[in-house]
Amino acid sequence: MQADRGQWSSRLGFIFAAAGSAIGLGNIWRFPYIVGENGGGAFVLLYLFFVVVIGLPYMLAELSLGRFSSKNPVGAIEAVKPKSTWKLAGLLGVITGIGILSFYGVIAGWTFGYIFKMAAGKVYGFEAFVADPLWVIILFAFFILITTTIVYGGVEGGIEKWSKILMPILLVLLVGLIFYANSLDGAERGLAFYLEPDFSKITGKTVLAALGQAFFSLSLGMGLMITYGSYLSKKENILTSAIYIAIFDTAIAIMAGLIIFPALFAMGEDPAAGPSLVFVVFPKIFMQMPYGLLVGSFFFILLSVAALTSTISLLEVPVAYLVDEKKASRKKIVWAVAGFTFIVGIPSALSQGSVDFFTNFGLIPEFLTGPDFLSQMSFIFGDFSLAFGALVLSIFMGWVWGAGNAADELQQGSPGFVRIRAVWMFMIRYFIPFVVFLILLNLFGIFD
Ligand code: PHE
Repeated sequence: MQADRGQWSSRLGFIFAAAGSAIGLGNIWRFPYIVGENGGGAFVLLYLFFVVVIGLPYMLAELSLGRFSSKNPVGAIEAVKPKSTWKLAGLLGVITGIGILSFYGVIAGWTFGYIFKMAAGKVYGFEAFVADPLWVIILFAFFILITTTIVYGGVEGGIEKWSKILMPILLVLLVGLIFYANSLDGAERGLAFYLEPDFSKITGKTVLAALGQAFFSLSLGMGLMITYGSYLSKKENILTSAIYIAIFDTAIAIMAGLIIFPALFAMGEDPAAGPSLVFVVFPKIFMQMPYGLLVGSFFFILLSVAALTSTISLLEVPVAYLVDEKKASRKKIVWAVAGFTFIVGIPSALSQGSVDFFTNFGLIPEFLTGPDFLSQMSFIFGDFSLAFGALVLSIFMGWVWGAGNAADELQQGSPGFVRIRAVWMFMIRYFIPFVVFLILLNLFGIFD
């Protein structure tokens, strides 16, 4: 796919692959627990606001640079501004891909394990499950291995085809679960927590969390959309494709919340339980349902597939970079990057109770994220690095490449873009860098 700079087989193929990258654990595992930790409804509104005013316009910029250059993030920057330090921004994206995959793969491994846990009727015991060093490592290794095999063999025939079948099934299952969860006694209180904003709950940390979640969930800030955009044809309408991707992604996250919060309040669980939320609350819902274990294993199969389309994209970025720039064989590179990521991920895998040192790692202070290695990686790569990457890349695209050039590229295939061209150029040059910069400053307590 990379060597001959292939293209997506069809417009739908691209939308499915990009939406497949965006939709994943970020929507169903991460979104609900971040909402829970950040106080509910007000955070959800803030998140939606960032998706529309920052995520979507920024996604257009990444896609446009990718299609313009037909390159990986580093190569794309080189194509516009050869031999400059700007390419470090692309390199940061490549490293971030490995960083995210290293902890994301661990959670994907749990998801995979839960298929069997459900099927065997062992519904409870999340804490013991993730603290078992042998199992978590085996499951993590297995997930990386499947990801590797698919990236190795090409994405179109396998994963594109399967996502087209499995993603709609996931959607239907989620709709069914929404009805079920909201029929439980006490569900209204959960709905109120989720949908009624209480703006006193918004703090500096909340704002960063909302922005970070918007970037993470839409797969932005690390050049993934540059890479996927590089396989687009000039005829493609980038504008409408990006709108579809954002709508699908946001819809799935909102739906996950419509299941989790009503069920959670009905069952008297704590919304701020953190990363374990989905693995504790969903199984409890299934336990009460007719055919619950069957529905439960099925749910975790679909969630694993959603995670897989994301891990593939995470691996694709460093692989595309090394194949393009180092001119080595794709096969060797895929195995080398996957092996390296696996090693980097081991501390995350062992950080949920099995090894004390990693469980209480605590390099990043407690007010920002949990002390365990996995949460710390999630903060560094999943929040900070994506926001920082988006800051640097938007400055690069708005000023160095030039918002006008980026807009010209976008206009090809998207005639309707003319109408928002001026607004978009303002967003990419001023609004996005400014807002992201302020939020990052705030992170270091500058405004306190
Ligand atoms: N967007 C993916 C998710 O929500 C995670 C991801 C982030 C994938 C960045 C690729 C790049 O699960």
